[in-house]
Amino acid sequence: MKTLRFFGHACFMLQDDKTSILFDPFFTDNPFNIAAAKEVSADYILVSHAHFDHIGDTASIATRCGATVISTAEVCRLLDEKGCKTHAMHLGGKMPFPFGSVRVTPAFHGSGVAGGHACGFIVNFGGTNVYFAGDTSLFGDMALLGKLEKIDYALLPIGSNFTMGPDDAAIAAEMLQAANIVPMHYNTWPPIEQDPEAYKKLVEAKSAAKVHIMPPGDILELV
Ligand code: NI
Ligand code: MN
Repeated sequence: MKTLRFFGHACFMLQDDKTSILFDPFFTDNPFNIAAAKEVSADYILVSHAHFDHIGDTASIATRCGATVISTAEVCRLLDEKGCKTHAMHLGGKMPFPFGSVRVTPAFHGSGVAGGHACGFIVNFGGTNVYFAGDTSLFGDMALLGKLEKIDYALLPIGSNFTMGPDDAAIAAEMLQAANIVPMHYNTWPPIEQDPEAYKKLVEAKSAAKVHIMPPGDILELV
């Protein structure tokens, strides 16, 4: 069984009986307060960029668990200095891993580290493709990502202010041709308050995608 657990904001755990992969492990100071960093373990940690709400507790979790951190070279260098085991990648790269593969995608956003670039990931997890967009605006090459990979689940920011908002994220859903969408990066703080039900209606009215609204703490069984 493959599951996706949402810890609020942009923090997710993808898991099966062999492997657990954390995305953007923001636990300390996460207003949703679903779990403490010290309670969470992972085999891999994927970090989209170095803003505090994404790099979060990466160093403490990775060093405690011996997890492999996968991110861009600049973010990996930061984490190397904190004693993490890292696998540096960059935009356009795709690598096989024991669980499947990781493709690093562009994200239009600050990297939080000098000379860096924000990214997203398309993770093939035992045959299921999960696109974690990271913090990004809408960009036209999302259509290309949907052609390069058959996206089963797309985790898309809808908060606006720092990233794309619901209208743009509905266009993203169409361009990606993803079968399932999980909205993220909303309702954490006042500037990113959004109504996910309105987003769900918008997407489901104009595409075949199913939108799964995950309350923080929720676990979704992946098909
Ligand atoms: Ni950010
Ligand atoms: Mn963010």
